[in-house]
Amino acid sequence: MEKVLSVNNREFESIGRKRTYHAVTYGCQMNAHDSEKIVGMLNSMGYELTESEDNADVVIYNTCCIRENAENRMYGNLGYLKNIKAGRKDMKIILCGCMMQQDSVIEKIKKSYNFVDIIFGTYNLYRLPQLLYTNMETGAQVVDVWKEQKEIIEDLPSIRKYQFKAGVNIMYGCNNFCSYCIVPYVRGRERSRSSENIVHEIETLVSDGVKEIMLLGQNVNSYGRGLEENITFAGLLRKVSKIKGLERIRFMTSHPKDLSDELIEAMAECDNICKYIHLPLQSGSNKVLKAMNRKYTKEDYLLIVEKLRKRIPGIAITTDLIVGFPTETDEDNEETIEVIKKVGYSSAYTFIYSPRSGTAAAKLPMEDEEIIKTRFNKILETLNPISYEINKKHVGKVYKVLAEEVSKNDSGVISGRLDDNSLVHFKGGEELIGNIVDVKINDCKTFYLLGEKI
Ligand code: 5AD
Ligand code: SF4
Repeated sequence: MEKVLSVNNREFESIGRKRTYHAVTYGCQMNAHDSEKIVGMLNSMGYELTESEDNADVVIYNTCCIRENAENRMYGNLGYLKNIKAGRKDMKIILCGCMMQQDSVIEKIKKSYNFVDIIFGTYNLYRLPQLLYTNMETGAQVVDVWKEQKEIIEDLPSIRKYQFKAGVNIMYGCNNFCSYCIVPYVRGRERSRSSENIVHEIETLVSDGVKEIMLLGQNVNSYGRGLEENITFAGLLRKVSKIKGLERIRFMTSHPKDLSDELIEAMAECDNICKYIHLPLQSGSNKVLKAMNRKYTKEDYLLIVEKLRKRIPGIAITTDLIVGFPTETDEDNEETIEVIKKVGYSSAYTFIYSPRSGTAAAKLPMEDEEIIKTRFNKILETLNPISYEINKKHVGKVYKVLAEEVSKNDSGVISGRLDDNSLVHFKGGEELIGNIVDVKINDCKTFYLLGEKI
């Protein structure tokens, strides 16, 4: 890091401006969190943020490969960058993240996008300074993608997007091999961090003004497996919840097959654990769940929901759904709709199945596109009125809201979140950001609430 910093400082002295970076993140919270570390390293090397990639000295794309459209978006943007770089040879283009863990992608980039300067993967992001320095020295394309994690690197510098909330990795990778999913292939086997390191990181964040943390893992419910210390996810939550000054704890993602009664108890008993859970269902048909290798039935899932609702009144449940998985029929889709109605989701991400090469399901024949679209629309038509009805129940009540940002559409409006993760817009100024304020809910739409600060 020091070497690149000294090159950049020399440049600063000669041209009178700092070198700049522009970082783009595709995909999930895990990637967003990795990007905070990447940006932290770039900052430590003397780079300064610029909002536009057109004039950036370094452009970095942290990529996602969960569905084909994420990959296509990245290639589209890369095509745009090619033209910019044609006029600015000294610009550095860096690609990293999940897409880069696939051999076919690396081959394609080497062949058709040879203007890319640096490529690294999900296991070695801490190597960025070294790779950047090598590229500066040699001018040649540098590719460094590992097939597995060698060690977990703690204490990388990080620049948080928000001062008052932060993500914290509690584990990396996934062992579940859901038949449609590429994550186990690009993020490797499950590895948990020690609870001591996690608690220490959160304590530091809280002393730096963080009020809310999101514990991150592909399957947080299996946290602790393989660690020397004897600890479960519920045990970790209880430890974290004791940290003084930490107001809100969220976590993501929970796999239903590993959700324990012990976790429900911890959520019910600890006040600072939010009344909110994201619990991907994927499908409500037992036949499809089996083909997806999800290892639970719809009955198992509904039982968990019943327990959650009984023990944690007011809990909001959200989910992920996949429509058009191979072998899915209209009847299977109807079963999914039935489960949606029974659970009453506050909101849901609905995805059209996208075959990912290398996964078990990729070999299965695809369903007709028009049929999938019809099923997809039916699902949305079921979800939306339920979300609206749930939101309506908030109207007239007062809630604690963490003020998060100025609304994108109105500079006099602040957007924030309730404990149950509902989004609310209310009149207010920038000075409220990062504070927990009382907001009375006056009205609602399908996807958000409208309120006033009291
Ligand atoms: N096609 C469509 N959706 C997928 N997901 C994961 N893999 C695929 C795929 N191949 C969805 C799942 C998961 C979410 C993060 O992305 O619903 O929960
Ligand atoms: Fe993918 Fe399944 Fe692992 Fe989630 S649990 S990351 S869907 S393989």
